[in-house]
Amino acid sequence: MPSPISTPQARSENAHAKINLYLHVTGRRGDGYHLLDSLVVFAGAHDTLTLGETTAGPTLALGGAFGPTLQAEAASQGKAQAVQENLVIRAARALAPKALGQQGGAAQLRALHLNLAKNLPVASGIGGGSADAAACLRLLARLWGADGARLATIAPTLGADVPVCLQQRAVRMAGIGEHLTPAPAMPPVGMVLANPGVPVSTPAIFKRLKEAAAPFTPPAPPYPSRGWATAGELASWLGQTGNDLQAPAEAEEPAITALLGALSALPGARLARMSGSGATCFALFDDVASAQAALPHLHQEALPGQRRPWQWAGGLFNA
Ligand code: C5P
Repeated sequence: MPSPISTPQARSENAHAKINLYLHVTGRRGDGYHLLDSLVVFAGAHDTLTLGETTAGPTLALGGAFGPTLQAEAASQGKAQAVQENLVIRAARALAPKALGQQGGAAQLRALHLNLAKNLPVASGIGGGSADAAACLRLLARLWGADGARLATIAPTLGADVPVCLQQRAVRMAGIGEHLTPAPAMPPVGMVLANPGVPVSTPAIFKRLKEAAAPFTPPAPPYPSRGWATAGELASWLGQTGNDLQAPAEAEEPAITALLGALSALPGARLARMSGSGATCFALFDDVASAQAALPHLHQEALPGQRRPWQWAGGLFNA
């Protein structure tokens, strides 16, 4: 039975930025998808999905700093209704019949309206649509009464990054994103995130990697069983890893190289690297205060922005 949800907190769900602290491409499957090894964490920065009501659902309304970007992207695909085909709506459509049956699911979908505050840049290597879709699954599971096992079967059908975004805590990710094991507890870290305002297409970066025909990278060494005591220890351990998508992304977008240089030069930065397929890059600091103090020093020339550039400083979420 659908459960009534009354408190404001229960009616909304945050989709936190997904950060790949390292990302090794270890192989390729027969279907073309790449096998990965990655330590994934989530930053405090987030989009927010909130329930509304309608009689013509399921519908999605976009707000937030990057709502217009997402709206424009959908419009550029030439379909008036493209926003309504967003991964968030696809997640709702996938869950409804499984949680409520065909008839009950159809009725609940008709009443469903979602507001997405798109605070994070679009097509930027930090989860984006996958994180929003995972937030939608968590939110509607509370509303419609589906358990975690049910969500876990739906998540991979929506995209390779949706399972990790569903968990939204520090994990080691393998396979194409479906094998997840909890990572050791993360030390306190500060993080600066910056996006130069250039959209990057994930399939295009994987295609470049394939065309470069570079040898695959072995998985990272085993994680220390007690984890890392400090941000400095974590950063020096990460020094033996990398992001295999960084070189192809830099070849596609030189702005990424400039941004990485600017992030490395920030006072107190322990490590600067790109997340996912880019273009968002991160720098690690000893604590949140150091990251916040460093942010104003980020040279704005490093954020040329054909689109709206973005920067943020804070800590990890749920690590
Ligand atoms: O699954 P998702 O739609 O997020 O993936 C987008 C594209 O990124 C895929 O079509 C594929 O080209 C590429 N990809 C890949 N290997 C992965 C994840 C994504 O090749 N592990």
